[in-house]
Amino acid sequence: MKIGVVGLGTMGAGIAQLAVEAGLETVGHEVTYELGERARARIEHFLSRKVDKGQIDSFDIDLLTLTIGLDDLADCDVVIEAIVEELDPKRELFAELDRICRPDAVLATNTSALSVTEIAGGATRPERVVGMHFFNPAPLMPLVEIVRAERTSDEAFETAYALGERLGKHPIRCHDTPGFVVNRVLIPLLNDCLRVLDEARVTPADLDAGMRHGAGWPMGPCELVDLVGIDVHVHASEALWEKLREPRMAPPPRLVAMANAGLLGRKSGRGFYEYDES
Ligand code: 3HC
Repeated sequence: MKIGVVGLGTMGAGIAQLAVEAGLETVGHEVTYELGERARARIEHFLSRKVDKGQIDSFDIDLLTLTIGLDDLADCDVVIEAIVEELDPKRELFAELDRICRPDAVLATNTSALSVTEIAGGATRPERVVGMHFFNPAPLMPLVEIVRAERTSDEAFETAYALGERLGKHPIRCHDTPGFVVNRVLIPLLNDCLRVLDEARVTPADLDAGMRHGAGWPMGPCELVDLVGIDVHVHASEALWEKLREPRMAPPPRLVAMANAGLLGRKSGRGFYEYDES
């Protein structure tokens, strides 16, 4: 099986890492070779650490080839999209992939909160479009949501499910409703947490300690939003707010201000906390 991954940012690189670890031939697409090389170096680093720690015996980084041309995805069996969380670019990409890829290839989107059905609207064969929603960090989080859009075929759905298992994940089946399963719950919950920052006049560190030590969360809400990306969380909140109109879905103004100021969390070096690596 040959996998394509479009977009090698945090999520795409994590998905490509899983594919290489599973021994699958993988084509990674980025807009420049420099960005692609950066992702490949991170993948090699994390897989080497796994070898050092005895978690895997070996891996073959040459399974991952890089490209800046979508045509190189033509012979992939499954292509997973992990580009910017905006509908128009995704629809355009799916229209392009639909033209380039074999008719039996499955086209999957890793969207967090956009409608898979609307993304599939860019394709002339929407039956082969499905959601494969991984969680951040993709190599560490066991879940993948397999999302059935309005016109997804059973074949495409089951191919995506089987690929999720092959990548070592725990897949769950769901339908294309706003936020699917986990984000439908997690996004308003995180927004509540972040509003408490101002309401209870608690510091981010104390809020995080509260949720870690009082609710058993593996990381606090501020740490988690810094990890996911403040811009990504704002985008996902806006998408859910637009569809469901529940006040808890709307992004807290404090987060919108941070996103506008370029405080995006770990990836920008600063969010609620400061980070060495950017
Ligand atoms: N690939 C492989 N290994 C990686 C890695 C990666 N991409 N990133 C980190 N690691 C490694 C670390 O380097 C470390 O290895 P080391 O021992 O060699 O340094 C190892 O994994 C473990 O790292 P940590 O010590 O940080 O691991 P923890 O035990 O603290 O767990 C965690 C980290 C799994 C992130 C845990 O804190 C957790 O579960 N947090 C919650 C995350 C979460 O909720 N994610 C979902 C976000 S919502 C989302 O994604 C939806 C989206 O649509 C917005």
